Amino acid sequence: MSTTFMQSVGLAAAMLASTSVFAADSEHIERGRYLATAGDCVACHTAPGGKPMAGGLALASPLGPIYSTNITPSKVHGIGNYTLEQFSDALRHGKRADGANLYPAMPYTEYAKTSDEDIAAMYAYFMHGVEAVDAAPAHTTALPFPFNIRASLGVWNALFHDATPYQADASQTPEWNRGAYLSQGLAHCTTCHTPRTTLMAEDSKRSLSGGEVGGWYAPNITSDAQSGIGNWTVQELVQYMSGQPVSGKGPAAGPMAEAVDHSLKHLTPEDLKAIAVYIKSVPAVGDGRVKQGADQFGQPVDALHSIRGVDLPRITTP
Ligand code: HEC
Ligand code: HEC
Repeated sequence: MSTTFMQSVGLAAAMLASTSVFAADSEHIERGRYLATAGDCVACHTAPGGKPMAGGLALASPLGPIYSTNITPSKVHGIGNYTLEQFSDALRHGKRADGANLYPAMPYTEYAKTSDEDIAAMYAYFMHGVEAVDAAPAHTTALPFPFNIRASLGVWNALFHDATPYQADASQTPEWNRGAYLSQGLAHCTTCHTPRTTLMAEDSKRSLSGGEVGGWYAPNITSDAQSGIGNWTVQELVQYMSGQPVSGKGPAAGPMAEAVDHSLKHLTPEDLKAIAVYIKSVPAVGDGRVKQGADQFGQPVDALHSIRGVDLPRITTP
């Protein structure tokens, strides 16, 4: 009698324990999904018309196209065999599981700011929340000599890559720090909005003062009143990032429309506000050439459909 009772107590305890483990796990996976959305992994790791995260998108580089790889949990063609540490090394140090250096077309230079905790949550999401695609991308990167020698990127990393995770600035509010953490890290605003030097490194002295992305110009988003976004309010920035119309300013187009659609508009209002508060605090950098903000050039038009033509890939979750 008492054994049965003890057994059922034991069973109930075991069930409780396993449900709470499961609950913690799925919470972890959900958190990882949110962070992967903030990082917009799907934008680069999905080919037009292809399966989400299965790779094969060509990213233009001055050296030739660099193709994204399959980051689904497929053990043959994806990252199914990556350990947490290898995943972390790819995201923060630009190192592939086999030790080779990744091309900085993968924004590890920004993702490096991400905390251990957030890397672990994303790992849980990629291993358990993304559907495995057992197929190699249609194209793989084949840069000409000497750029095909990934070891030479070790020199580039030594010169330009700072792998220190985000350090909170105690003189700022938690909101500002959250915004800085996301903007400099996962949301990688600088990847597109910061000009690059001849060696393709971001020019940190002119951070966010305007950069080029595959034929598009990502304008100056420092608080410079003329060439930047000094005249935007925090609220207008939040509206813009959530894909809502902003009076007198056009909707995001091209790569920014993709960043809004796949990533930014899915963030919580608190995170968007934090990003806006931080962005508004970035020191003004005027380039002396541009005398008016990108929103001052005429009437906004919504030509999104004719520009994009195709629907954006959607990440589906099992
Ligand atoms: C701006 C485009 C871009 C974004 C955004 C991006 N990646 Fe990548 N990623 C790449 C490219 C390109 C490669 C392949 C680089 C190479 O071959 O050297 C790559 C490679 C990788 C690899 C190495 C896989 C392997 O073994 O080949 C991992 C892991 C990875 N990315 C994870 C992520 C995660 C997670 C995110 C989102 C947090 C993300 N990437 C967002 C472009 C991107
Ligand atoms: C994939 C590249 C990319 C990323 C990542 C990106 N942007 Fe942009 N952004 C652009 C491009 C390109 C434009 C110009 C779009 C246009 O012409 O409509 C733009 C436009 C903008 C504008 C409008 C500026 C103006 O004067 O009209 C704002 C504000 C902005 N981005 C903020 C951000 C913030 C904040 C982040 C990070 C949270 C970010 N962007 C991340 C590429 C990017």
